[in-house]
Amino acid sequence: MGSLDAPISAENGTAPAAGHGKSPLTDGGMRPPPSDSVPEYELVKRRRSSVLPLEVGTRVMCRWRDGKYHPVKVIERRRVHGCGPNDYEYYVHYTEFNRRLDEWVKLDQLDLESVEAVVDEKVEEKGASGLKMTRHQKRKIDETHVEGHEELDAASLREHEEFTKVKNIATIELGRYEIETWYFSPFPSEYNDCLKLFFCEFCLNFMKRKEQLQRHMKKCDLKHPPGDEIYRSGTLSMFEVDGKKNKVYGQNLCYLAKLFLDHKTLYYDVDLFLFYVLCECDERGCHMVGYFSKEKHSEESYNLACILTLPPYQRKGYGKFLIAFSYELSKKEGKVGTPERPLSDLGLLSYRGYWTRVLLDILKKHKGNISIKELSDMTAIKAEDILTTLQSLELIQYRKGQHVICADPKVLDRHLKAAGRGGLDVDVSKLIWTPYKEQS
Ligand code: ACO
Ligand code: ZN
Repeated sequence: MGSLDAPISAENGTAPAAGHGKSPLTDGGMRPPPSDSVPEYELVKRRRSSVLPLEVGTRVMCRWRDGKYHPVKVIERRRVHGCGPNDYEYYVHYTEFNRRLDEWVKLDQLDLESVEAVVDEKVEEKGASGLKMTRHQKRKIDETHVEGHEELDAASLREHEEFTKVKNIATIELGRYEIETWYFSPFPSEYNDCLKLFFCEFCLNFMKRKEQLQRHMKKCDLKHPPGDEIYRSGTLSMFEVDGKKNKVYGQNLCYLAKLFLDHKTLYYDVDLFLFYVLCECDERGCHMVGYFSKEKHSEESYNLACILTLPPYQRKGYGKFLIAFSYELSKKEGKVGTPERPLSDLGLLSYRGYWTRVLLDILKKHKGNISIKELSDMTAIKAEDILTTLQSLELIQYRKGQHVICADPKVLDRHLKAAGRGGLDVDVSKLIWTPYKEQS
């Protein structure tokens, strides 16, 4: 993962048109002319209905929210009413876009004349096995994954991957926001029949019904994440939550986060993690904006495991704030750090933007030569990440067996402009924190 499999702007409705428009029936010369005895519309109708219901794995064009047709692959299908071949809805993946845009579509959104004859074998095979699983079996796999009690064999893992292709929870209510989810999250089995979940924005307990949440809110004492407030600047606060001391909160946060994280599995033990929860505070309490998690001890020098800005707060600089915060913690630990891989498309963009800005700001101000090691010491960014960032900006040359940074001020300015906004600043003087120590 980490590759841009979709134009990022697709979410803003600005994805390029998929070049659709030419109907196979009108593109001339490719088919024998229709028989004189059967009218054209009748042939079209027959051809359309002969492909129904569509198989899992079918590739076809689908009308998206921008009103244009885009290529999709059918991931799953379900009956909606009746039992005829037309009575299905399809869960589709837009092959040009990220999986977060996968959705259930109605038959009339699909252009059946564009159905490709060859069904994707791999998907069909996996899809069929996915369909055969009972809810209980699927649930078992997901619970195993969350709790990490058992290792999955390769076949179960494939089944799991197949099952997680279809989003289970469509929307959540959290604080004053109703948020559309992006991906599957393995909620406990009693939530299998829910399309919407209601979260308490403070303790992150989730419920099936609004009335349950309203009752809960009358009793819930929390007005901020459990744990220590380690940073406050203006209305922004950061809380450190120990997964061992606040297990349920940690698990709830993981369930919630998985709705927006694709390639992260939740089969870790929350005990081993610290959660840094960013909040906007007002007189009603501290409202979660985003968070990152961090292993208490990382062999691989990871200083961040998962990062999320909740969708209503995205593109406001909070992501870069969280990234900057993770490096400030590393500096206090006297270590270099790097995010856990794989990075998502948005994660990679955010990190690239952050690394570029931080490194180029230093290069601009610095007089004389500077090495990658020195840059790493100053920023707590791992040397490999510095090298790949500067290489991708073509600021590195290899001379006499050494990497040399070549930084023309004009080129630096151009790159800095392209790197986007700086994000919200972390005021280090407001950070009151000591590195984690195991309590005996
Ligand atoms: N379209 C285009 N560019 C985007 C988009 C988007 N939708 N979202 C973020 N970016 C890029 C931009 O370059 C942006 O900088 P700019 O606004 O100055 O141009 C930069 O990323 C970061 O913007 P921020 O506002 O600082 O970040 P945000 O608060 O939106 O959070 C994050 C970024 C955390 C990656 C968010 O998109 C998110 O939560 N995504 C879902 C979860 C996820 O993918 N997390 C990363 C997984 S990898 C890991 O956990 C190690
Ligand atoms: Zn609560």
